[in-house]
Amino acid sequence: MGLLNSNKGTTVLTNKTVILGITGSIAAYKAADIASKLTQAGAKVEVVMTDSATRFIAPLTLRSITGRPVVTDMFDLASQHTIEHIALGEAADIVVIAPATASLIAKVAAGIADDMVTLTVLATKAPIILAPAMNVNMFENPITQENLAKLKARGFTIVDPAYGRLASGKMGRGRLADIDKIIGTIKQVLGRSGDLAGKRLVVTAGGTREPIDPVRHIGNRSSGKMGYAMAEAARDRGASVTLITAPTSLPEPVGMEVVHIETAAQMKDAVARAVAQADALIMAAAVADYQPKSVAKAKIKKESPSLTLELVRTPDILTEVKGDFLKVGFAAESQDIVANAKQKLEKKKLDLIVANDITDADSGFGVDTNKVTLIDRKGKVEELPLLTKREVADRILDKVVAMLAKK
Ligand code: PMT
Repeated sequence: MGLLNSNKGTTVLTNKTVILGITGSIAAYKAADIASKLTQAGAKVEVVMTDSATRFIAPLTLRSITGRPVVTDMFDLASQHTIEHIALGEAADIVVIAPATASLIAKVAAGIADDMVTLTVLATKAPIILAPAMNVNMFENPITQENLAKLKARGFTIVDPAYGRLASGKMGRGRLADIDKIIGTIKQVLGRSGDLAGKRLVVTAGGTREPIDPVRHIGNRSSGKMGYAMAEAARDRGASVTLITAPTSLPEPVGMEVVHIETAAQMKDAVARAVAQADALIMAAAVADYQPKSVAKAKIKKESPSLTLELVRTPDILTEVKGDFLKVGFAAESQDIVANAKQKLEKKKLDLIVANDITDADSGFGVDTNKVTLIDRKGKVEELPLLTKREVADRILDKVVAMLAKK
C-alpha cells in the first residue's frame, strides 16, 4: 500500500486496488454507484460477483463502469480464472462486499469458500469491509448477529445497514447503508496506514449560533465546508478525529466522532473535553465574537419601531484552551491578510495560522475552493494558490505532520 500523496487531485483512493464483491440482494444495483464513485476517485476497481448477484445486475454494467473484466461464478472454479483471482485477492489494498447477504456472512464466518466472492474474502490478506443488506428478520436473527460479531472480532469492518423500507415492504433495519457511508468507511480503513496514524486531531467547523430568543439567532455565513474537509482529510491519513461542528447542511462524515453544538460556549466546552488526549486542535470554525447578553424566553414581539440588543463577548476558545497539543487557527481576512493573521497567531499563541483571503468570490465562506496563506510560529509564510478546500486541508496537514514529528 502506498502512502497518501497529498498532491493536487490525489486521494487515499488513488491507484488503490479495491475488490468490490457483490452478492445476491435487491440492493445489488447500488453496487454500480459504489463502483462508479470509487473509479472516479482513482481506484482500480475489480468486481467479483456471485451467480445470484448477476441476476440482479448485469456484469456488463459493472464492466462498463470500471473498465475492467468482471469475475463471476460463471467461471469454473478450477479454471485459470480462479488462480488469477486468488492473485488478485493478494494484490488488493481492500476488499469490500456490498451488498453482503446473510448467506455470504454465514459462509465467511464458517470459513466456506464456494463461490468467487467467498473465495476472494478467504484468500485475501487485505482489510475487509462488509456492508450487509437483507430482510430485517434475517438481520436481527441471532445467528446473523453472532456471525457478524465473530467477523468483527476477526478484524472485519461492518458498515451497519440503515433503517427504512425494505424490499418486502416492511420497515426495519436491513437496507444497504448509504453509499457515502460505505465510501467513507473504505477511505477510513485505507487511511489507517497514513502519515497521521495513531494521532488524535480535534477539528471545529461551521458558524456558531448565538440565540436571541427561541426562534432567532446571530449567525454567520460559514458553511462548515473547510472544517469538514479538514476532518475528512485527517481521517483519510489515519488520524482519530473528533469533529466539533456548528449546524451545517453537510452530510455527517463517517469514521470519526462528531459532536454537534450551537453556541460558542458549547463549542468551548466540547473542545475542552475533546483535547484531553489530542495531538492537535484545528479551529476552522467561524466562532461568534459576541452573544446577546440575555436570551429572551419568549419570541420577541414586533411592537416597537426599533430594538436594541446588548451583546457581550463570547469566550475565546483558542486562547483559553489549555494543553500540550498543536494549535492551528484560521483567520478570515479581507485586508492586510498576512499582518492581521500574524497578530492573531501571536495573540492566541498558535503554532500555525491559516490566513483566509475572503476578497475573492471563489475563496472563504460557502464555496468549495479556498485561497490561503500558511504562517507558522517562526514567521515562515507560504502563500498557496486557489485550491479545493480538500487540497487546502491536505496542505495544512502536511505542516501538522511535520510539526508533530519535531515535537
Ligand atoms: O465554513 P466555510 O464556509 O467553508 O468557510 C470557511 C471559513 C472562512 C469559515 C474558515 O476558513 C475560516 O477562515 N475560519 C475562521 C474564521 C475567522 O475569521 O475566525 P476569527 O478571525 O474570528 O478567529 C481566529 C481563530 O480563532 C479561528 O480559528 C477561530 O475558530 C478562533 N476563535 C474565534 C473566536 C472565538 N471566540 N474563539 C475562537 O477560538
